[in-house]
Amino acid sequence: MKVLFLGDVMGKPGRYAVKEFLQTNKNIADIIIVNGENATHGKGLSIKHAQELFNLGVDVITSGNHIWDHDQAPQLLRSNPCVLRPINFDSKAAGQGFYLIERSTFSCLVVNVQGRLFMPQLIADPFTAMDQVLTRYGLKRNTDAIIVDFHAETTAEKQAMGFYLDGRVSAVLGTHTHVPTADERILSKGTAYQTDSGMCGNYDSIIGNEKMSALKRFTSVHEKSAITPAEGKGEVRGVLIDISDQTGLAKSVKRIKSHIAQTH
Ligand SMILES: [Fe+2]
Ligand SMILES: [Fe+2]
Repeated sequence: MKVLFLGDVMGKPGRYAVKEFLQTNKNIADIIIVNGENATHGKGLSIKHAQELFNLGVDVITSGNHIWDHDQAPQLLRSNPCVLRPINFDSKAAGQGFYLIERSTFSCLVVNVQGRLFMPQLIADPFTAMDQVLTRYGLKRNTDAIIVDFHAETTAEKQAMGFYLDGRVSAVLGTHTHVPTADERILSKGTAYQTDSGMCGNYDSIIGNEKMSALKRFTSVHEKSAITPAEGKGEVRGVLIDISDQTGLAKSVKRIKSHIAQTH
């Protein structure tokens, strides 16, 4: 089973880049997962933009801290179980943190979980949250693959999660920092891992935001300035994983980098 996972889609350049990439690579994977927490102008995900991603063949949309930025988030999360928010938010939060894709020949559990270090929201322990999911689902027990989107800020917390879940899930893929790391590999017990999958968006930016508006955050902290997403051309970043039908563990992991997509 091949799984394509794309990192945080950032605004219009990200949406266009994903569209072009998926339209020109139609049979790249059996399952496509995209992190959509910044797809709508950098702030969450509208119902319309979620539908656009699904229309391109995306199976599950994961998210993170920014999912709540958009006022349609509760409605979207309640109405579509294929849009996830991190599992370790308060149980009263709208939506769910995992979804089981069931096809005639295979199944794949997608889990979205958020880190705690340097993150803006008070949430439950992500490691315990993953243990709870894995008491319910197991590789080759009741699912053929388990893909984890770990939405976290620090490298160490992400590596810790990779180590913690090694051999228990098919892949642990980081999101949130918007910069792809060059450490994609298969861990010692067979789990594919990459600290951060990167961003689908405009890389001539500061993590997807227009450079001057983002720079002011660091140089003029006394002034209030709105940060706006970068316009222009976008690129796709992500990872393609081949998963063993026999074990549910990874056979290969490959970084994905597209050419620069036109926005129109
Ligand atoms: Fe993000
Ligand atoms: Fe985030």
